[in-house]
Amino acid sequence: TAPEKAYVRFSHKTIDGVPLIAQIIDNWEKLVHFQARPDDLLIATFPKAGTTWMQEIVDMIYKEGDAEVCKRAPVYERMPFLEWPSIPPMPSGIEVLDGMPSPRVIKTHLQFKHVPKSFWENNCKMIYMARNPKDNLVSYYHFERMTLTQIDPGTWEEYLGNFMQGNELFFSKFYKQTNNLKKKKIQRNVLYIFFENSFQNPKREILKVLTFLGRELPDDVVEKIVHHTSFESMKINPMTNYTTLPKILPKTIFRPGISSFMRKGQ
Ligand code: A3P
Repeated sequence: TAPEKAYVRFSHKTIDGVPLIAQIIDNWEKLVHFQARPDDLLIATFPKAGTTWMQEIVDMIYKEGDAEVCKRAPVYERMPFLEWPSIPPMPSGIEVLDGMPSPRVIKTHLQFKHVPKSFWENNCKMIYMARNPKDNLVSYYHFERMTLTQIDPGTWEEYLGNFMQGNELFFSKFYKQTNNLKKKKIQRNVLYIFFENSFQNPKREILKVLTFLGRELPDDVVEKIVHHTSFESMKINPMTNYTTLPKILPKTIFRPGISSFMRKGQ
């Protein structure tokens, strides 16, 4: 394992107490004024709650089960990450989204109070995926060790202690994000999906997403979506497993030999 000091982590700032990559906060006004379109779909999660899984399910639904079309580009290009800053040569999420044809599917880890107003004003549909706190935290811990945009998580004991004390984690306070959503759900166009339910019965949860999106697909296509979005398929698919990202950002994204994006999926 390469020593931590051989790699430089990003610098960070806070907004409302939430630590984020400094460039996100430096460009906050652009984010606040981001123009959502009525047919945008927002996939919102706490990091590591199954974002990529839901993104792939939605793309397979939009592309009516055509797995080859869903391999046209890595998931982070097909469905831009709203608050992602420009990390050359990668453009920012907003830069990509502004030039993207509709219908757009957009990923965010922002707390709902930080989601740009235009999403609410346009009554955009949103899918919020949540995972049980223990697995979510374990997954996030391994991810934060590996990923240079994140704050060094320290030891597991320190990390867990921080979480148990209710401190802010990178991007969000876990419970604050999840609980705020429950309040919003009553008034808003939000579908709430649990990682564990999807794991136990993927087809049932995919059908919920399909209904929410107002679409219908034949049963054999739904079965194809179940297969293509299984952990086993997504782990070996370069367009979903994030192995393409270090090729674009070789020194600035993942410390090699620490962990992987598709780790255990359980
Ligand atoms: P683990 O680290 O526990 O393996 P996100 O996309 O929000 O960053 O979440 C990543 C987590 O979701 C990782 O968890 C990853 O393995 C898991 N995951 C991704 N696709 C999955 C799938 N199809 N089935 C089960 N878990 C999946």
